[in-house]
Amino acid sequence: MKFDGAGIAIVGSGSATPQAVVRNDDLSQLVDTSDEWIRARTGIRNRHLLGENSSLSELAAMAASKAIAAADISPEAIDLVLLATSTPDDLFGSAAKVQALIGAKNAVAFDLTAACSGFVFGLVTAAQYLRTGAFQNIVVIGADVLSRWVDWGDRNTCVLFGDGAGAVVCQRSSQDQLLGFEMYSDGSRNDCLNLSYQEKPKYLINDVSIQKGDYQAISMNGREVYRFAVAKVPEVVEKTLFRANLTAADVDWLVLHQANQRIIDAVAKRLKLPAEKVIANLHEYGNTSAASIPLALDEAVIAGKIKTGDLVVTSGFGAGLSWGSAIFRWGTVD
Ligand code: UT7
Repeated sequence: MKFDGAGIAIVGSGSATPQAVVRNDDLSQLVDTSDEWIRARTGIRNRHLLGENSSLSELAAMAASKAIAAADISPEAIDLVLLATSTPDDLFGSAAKVQALIGAKNAVAFDLTAACSGFVFGLVTAAQYLRTGAFQNIVVIGADVLSRWVDWGDRNTCVLFGDGAGAVVCQRSSQDQLLGFEMYSDGSRNDCLNLSYQEKPKYLINDVSIQKGDYQAISMNGREVYRFAVAKVPEVVEKTLFRANLTAADVDWLVLHQANQRIIDAVAKRLKLPAEKVIANLHEYGNTSAASIPLALDEAVIAGKIKTGDLVVTSGFGAGLSWGSAIFRWGTVD
């Protein structure tokens, strides 16, 4: 899609991760696993977990404040705080709490739930408000504390996940730097990966009973999700590149959702992208769901890898099932 007037520029990033680090060896005290298995099958070595007296909102706010500082604007200039999360502190939403914590007092704030695709879906959502001219500055945050919902006795899932937050500031710009996007859902495969509500009927009055259940721990069919990811992610990236009149040869950086190093390697191979162009930090953080892409992006910007004008390809995928890709040039490019 091409737009004449206004567009979007992605001008600053920030991230935050909890201090407590749990190594693979530590997990073998909880479940029957080993550092060797986890490294070989996933590439993960450590994960950072949020401790008590901390919140998702605080972690998200830390990342957002850093992104706003990097964008060199004041929090009052933010029009929208868009928080992609599946693990809010409050089911009514946590974005407004983040808005207050970062002092974005002129911003409206809301949550967006799309699991590990949340950041890409959030970025695309932000772009619509900027392209229509409704807003000038939006902070898009991907933040998750999946450790709250992991069954720490299930070795199939507990070794995979970590907590974190990442954010970017998107600005209305005369040059549109979001060169393309694609987004998909397939709810018929929802049972592959979920964190679902289990109802427990409770008799209330007369013939009326209500649901008084609870959310269950994350459950995942790892092999199915793996197969889905290695099939759909290269496909969606290729389609996005094609529609933007670009090829894999134009790509400077591939920043995928950090779920498994084997998935990242398989996608890079399918796209014929050399390892030097692939950003990966899941060895340190594990799968941080909506946070993983902006967290990896921010670390690559801080490390001086991603520079103004570089072509960045992102792809998120996971529960829903959902998947998508967004391709942009980093920074303000004239
Ligand atoms: O963010 C959302 C997206 N999520 C993903 O992308 C996850 C996609 N899936 C994966 O990354 C991989 O499927 C896993 C890392 C979850 C699993 O790797 P796998 O190579 O597909 O292993 P598997 O599930 O086929 O299990 C192989 C064996 C099984 O034992 P048997 O049945 O062969 O005897 C498992 O019980 O490994 C066993 N196993 C473990 N062993 C030691 C499973 N988890 C562990 C563990 N430690 N933590």
